[in-house]
Amino acid sequence: VERTLSIIKPDATERNLTGAIVAKFEESGLRVVASKRIHLTPAQAGQFYAVHAERPFYGELCEFMASAPVVVQVLEGEGAIAKNREVMGATNPADAAPGTIRAEFAKSVGENSVHGSDAPETAAEEIAFFFSGLELVG
Ligand code: GTP
Ligand code: MG
Repeated sequence: VERTLSIIKPDATERNLTGAIVAKFEESGLRVVASKRIHLTPAQAGQFYAVHAERPFYGELCEFMASAPVVVQVLEGEGAIAKNREVMGATNPADAAPGTIRAEFAKSVGENSVHGSDAPETAAEEIAFFFSGLELVG
């Protein structure tokens, strides 16, 4: 089965939405096989989002991701990467389908409540960034 890396972002943890978001994942059939709450430094956020280093919003993104705790999780299931992105909805909440996490909870295109890996290679890299093999409990 497939695994993907999910982050519940600072705008969501601050508004006490962790449980509501995890409920959406679980209702979709995804299983939480690793989970921890951490507070990233701006440097750690920058390392995680290094692929976006040239984008105009990179500084803002790193500052936001370090502004409050996040919950990082590994989600497992059939087609977990695509399924998670479907449950998250479009990056910009204005474009997100009704019922998706971003449609219901995101504040803006930047403060959009969740991150999810976008491909098998990035999922593997992102899971290894946050978790050791021992922490993944299927
Ligand atoms: P992630 O799952 O977080 O990677 O979202 P995504 O794959 O839907 O979007 P993308 O990888 O293109 O962008 C990564 C993140 O950068 C987004 O989730 C937003 O938090 C942020 N971001 C994207 N576009 C903008 C923007 O125009 N302005 C700001 N401030 N942030 C943006
Ligand atoms: Mg992305």
